[in-house]
Amino acid sequence: MDVEELLAEQIAYYRARAPEYDDWWERRDRYYQGPEFFEWWRAEIDSVARWFKGLAPLGAVLEIAAGTGNITRLLAPHADSVLALDSSTETLEINAVKTAGMSVEYVAADIFAWESDRRFDTVAFGFWLSHVPEARFEQYWGKVARWLVPGGRAVFVDNRPPDGDWFERRTGNTDAVYDSSRGTSQRTLRDGHSFDIVKVFWEPDVLEHRLRTLGWQAQVGRTSGAFIHGVATLGHSISE
Ligand SMILES: C[S@@+](CC[C@H](N)C(=O)[O-])C[C@H]1O[C@@H](n2cnc3c(N)ncnc32)[C@H](O)[C@@H]1O
Repeated sequence: MDVEELLAEQIAYYRARAPEYDDWWERRDRYYQGPEFFEWWRAEIDSVARWFKGLAPLGAVLEIAAGTGNITRLLAPHADSVLALDSSTETLEINAVKTAGMSVEYVAADIFAWESDRRFDTVAFGFWLSHVPEARFEQYWGKVARWLVPGGRAVFVDNRPPDGDWFERRTGNTDAVYDSSRGTSQRTLRDGHSFDIVKVFWEPDVLEHRLRTLGWQAQVGRTSGAFIHGVATLGHSISE
């Protein structure tokens, strides 16, 4: 499968997954792994929420791959406005319910095709960078750069790389079969339907270095468990 086909299948997967996406985030049904894990996961999400809060004020925000709104609703309270972009109208409809009353606009578009003259103080993306294939990494960050005002920030969270049995044990991703050599994951929905999607995990120091080669200054850290988070700017020192 070439990159174009993989990206198309990835879009189709998230459209089909929209009604069950939040089972993962909320740790319900097949993602429920008992009370201890549930508390640990909630603490991880709280630490992501605190991390975004620590970046306030965010000004005008473009959120890429906003999905069902789990990150949108963390961003919006600290933003003047959020433009929430996703390729799936199905996820954006769920997002709109969660963010009702907040200053959020929604746009359904493929990020690799979308163009805009608008500029933003912050370009944010949660659990999206790991779905950008290596072949599109440079193009993607070039787009992010064009959408930022001078001194603006790209901010992101994502899954931490799997190591040892941590990944299986801690994330319980029985719906996902990761192939590190291809940078893909085979995902299975509740109805048994399978899709191949992109999955490229980033170690914080490797990502910082890679972004530096593209002219970004980035600080990438991690929560105590499941996530990495980062701030990247072009040509300015970073104040978090
Ligand atoms: C892992 S989900 C993350 C959603 C959300 N940021 C969150 O953290 O809950 C990835 C999202 O990327 C969207 N997506 C996939 N391909 C895309 C593309 N080419 N352009 C824009 N969004 C895309 C999917 O529809 C899905 O909502």
